Amino acid sequence: MKKIIKNGTVVSDTECIKADVLIEDELIKAVEPGINADDAEFIDANGKYILPGAIDVHTHMDLDVGFDRACDDFYNGTVAAACGGTTTIIDHMAFGPKGCYPWHQVEEYHKLADGNAVIDYGFHGVLQEKADERTLSEIKEISEKEGITSFKLYLTYDSMLHDKDVFAVLNEAKKDDVLITVHCENDGMVNFLREKFGNEGKLTPKYHPLSRPAEAEAEAINRLLYLAECADEAPVYVVHLSSKAGLDEIITAKKRGRKHFGVETCPQYLLLEDDLYEDPREGLKAIMSPPLRKESDRNALWDALSNDILDTVATDHCPFTFEKQKQRGASDFRMCPNGAPGVEERLILLFSEGYGKGRLTLPQVVKYACTNPAKIFGLYPKKGVIKPSADADILIIDPDKKHTLTHADMHGNSDYTCYEGFEIKGMIETVMQRGRIIVKDNKFLGSKGDGHYLKREKSSVCRPES
Ligand code: URP
Ligand code: ZN
Ligand code: ZN
Repeated sequence: MKKIIKNGTVVSDTECIKADVLIEDELIKAVEPGINADDAEFIDANGKYILPGAIDVHTHMDLDVGFDRACDDFYNGTVAAACGGTTTIIDHMAFGPKGCYPWHQVEEYHKLADGNAVIDYGFHGVLQEKADERTLSEIKEISEKEGITSFKLYLTYDSMLHDKDVFAVLNEAKKDDVLITVHCENDGMVNFLREKFGNEGKLTPKYHPLSRPAEAEAEAINRLLYLAECADEAPVYVVHLSSKAGLDEIITAKKRGRKHFGVETCPQYLLLEDDLYEDPREGLKAIMSPPLRKESDRNALWDALSNDILDTVATDHCPFTFEKQKQRGASDFRMCPNGAPGVEERLILLFSEGYGKGRLTLPQVVKYACTNPAKIFGLYPKKGVIKPSADADILIIDPDKKHTLTHADMHGNSDYTCYEGFEIKGMIETVMQRGRIIVKDNKFLGSKGDGHYLKREKSSVCRPES
């Protein structure tokens, strides 16, 4: 069945053009003015924007944190994603049982996602505890056989990698053209401070950001970038950048001429601040790592996006229910499961708070939410762009419709949104995946298991343009 989206404005990462879009057999066939066909279904997009389906490269569906589990699985988490305009996710795997090798979690995650996800999906592999010979050979094998061309490691948490192992991984990544994504916080600083606050009985949420200072992020970013530089420019990607201090390290590395890295931030670090932790009960909602920062950090991150210094905006979607799961931290913030929902909110927040408030151009919104994620994670030009031969993953946005963001209208399993009450200008009207309408006026119309597993190509970070 052919479809033609008529009279809209098609947005890419570089421009907005008035054009019609012809869709056939799940693909985009043409993008030009004045397309007609007798046998096509017409969708009128007059006065609307047509964007590529958004890609969220940092989610944690069904995340097992040992003592609890994130409350969105691959079915309802991807329903929430779809309703928020995201048609592809790349999920970060949980740590597996202590001592396991990377293949273990690849197999586990297929069991969790296959037949459940309603949108297309891929995985980042996970590296834990060590980087012995078998770990390194599995990186190469998994990237070749599974199309998992990015692996995540942590510089903090119990299953972190220490510097010698990080360096071994980076050398392997350079050889295999595999992207290493990294959670950057200095583990020693964080653990010292958590222990100190614990001993002093300082256990309310306001001590969470104090135990994870911006300097802990900055130091870890600096270290990672030097390690990567020394590993012959191994390709790396900094996840969830939260602070100006961290950003300064990124800028310094760019000034040194470093190119083989990408940087992600998230809406929570652009829009929320650490005053949320002052309320001893409500503060639990925002316990995530890294924590929320100050207004000066937010402004620096917006400026960096506006000046094309960062590469992507993802979510780190990792939801727990407030009334039940987050209450584990009621008498000790250290017991609260870390993370917050965000997969449904991201695109419209970027549209309204970024483009609507003049902080970003509309092509920049597309660049950060669609095109760069596709390029950096080996999905371009199948995903992240509206042009012939790409998958027909498409959003139609009415720029004038206003609404108040509220959890009551949302689809995830968590019982709150951190953005309750945000006034939004712009509404996602239609979401298509591979040419099928899966969301219309906030109603999910797709089906369980319709998402395809995506084997990915190598990252653009491996071969940056000079
Ligand atoms: O607090 C967070 N972000 N939880 C999810 C795991 C991670 O660090 O990305
Ligand atoms: Zn993280
Ligand atoms: Zn994460």
